[in-house]
Amino acid sequence: MTAHERALRGFNKHFSGDPTLVVRAPGRVNLIGEFTDYNGGHCLPVAIDRGTWVAARARDDDRVQVLAVDLDDARDSFSTAIPIDRLPVLHWANYVRGVFAALGRQVHRHLPGVDLAISGDVPRGAGLSSSASLEVAVGEALRRLFDLDATPLQLALAGQQAEHDYAGCQCGIMDQMASALGKANHALLLNCTSLTATPVPLPADWAIVVIDTRITRGLVESAYNERRRQCVEAAAHFNVNLLCEVVEADFATRSVGMAPLALRRARHVVGEDARTLQAAHAIGNGDLVSLGHLMRASHRSMRDDFEVSLPPIDALVELSNGVIGDTGGARLTGGGFGGSVVAVLPKDGVPDLACAIKLGYRNPSGELAHVHLCSVAAGANLAGALGTG
Ligand code: GLA
Repeated sequence: MTAHERALRGFNKHFSGDPTLVVRAPGRVNLIGEFTDYNGGHCLPVAIDRGTWVAARARDDDRVQVLAVDLDDARDSFSTAIPIDRLPVLHWANYVRGVFAALGRQVHRHLPGVDLAISGDVPRGAGLSSSASLEVAVGEALRRLFDLDATPLQLALAGQQAEHDYAGCQCGIMDQMASALGKANHALLLNCTSLTATPVPLPADWAIVVIDTRITRGLVESAYNERRRQCVEAAAHFNVNLLCEVVEADFATRSVGMAPLALRRARHVVGEDARTLQAAHAIGNGDLVSLGHLMRASHRSMRDDFEVSLPPIDALVELSNGVIGDTGGARLTGGGFGGSVVAVLPKDGVPDLACAIKLGYRNPSGELAHVHLCSVAAGANLAGALGTG
């Protein structure tokens, strides 16, 4: 059964009758530009063909009833007539609660009650933004049900606010923007200062492969938030608000006298921002060789300077880059400390890559990686006619 069907069936069973609508919002994989978003820089994600589906129907009271079909039909219920509490433990429901609170504030409207059934197929903890796709899907459902005057960017911002206030992760805006604004067959060059997205067409004969390492990113908010604090401290050295205001050409001169750790963090961010712009250019030119170099350099920088990789992931990246050779590249993607590797290569190279990973990689528990050839999807939208996939 597809996630769409599971959401529908769950809705029918628990709320009786049909939902008014079903929406879908995708997960994302970032090609390059890691930890640049909250430093005011650029990143280059694509929305993927995995996502979260929300079946929704308005109620005639202020109650919100939420059913998480994939979590053994776990339920949450709260009222929009009073301030919405954050649940004390990190809990899937906090993402939903957070979006209600943030979106209500954004559109200056009291949001009425609603019944929601949620299902998805973004693997959790795989660095593919299952939480952002949940937030954006809930926002999109509310926008359509109540005809809210909210742009896709506002939905993204509401999702980010939910992470900050209800999930305890001081994330940037990349994941939510990719989920809300994604464009089929295009990467999105995001400028995280102006909050604008420029679609970059992807050549039809390139493959984007997500390799889920099966090393789950769990409880990494503290490390993520620590890196973010270190970036703020490093920015103070340069007398700027955000690290990406430092131009790469000036970095060597301006970084003289920095403490070694702050220097490494800043060097990653400033270099990564420059690599991201070059990568967008390379994609535009159909230049897979340059893109591959940039992706390899990005991984080295995440490993050595930002220190968010792990030895088995480094080995998997090295193995993948060995098979791919000069045309294309692979790197750790997303928030780090587990999750997925992304590879870009010619489509006809995918079987060899998948075979090499099957032979050469096991996670620390002895399990195989999941290799997924992605198609690049559009952002949040109606899921289509009811009952179809
Ligand atoms: C996570 C965050 C994003 C971004 C990436 C790293 O996915 O949610 O905002 O910072 O990590 O690039």
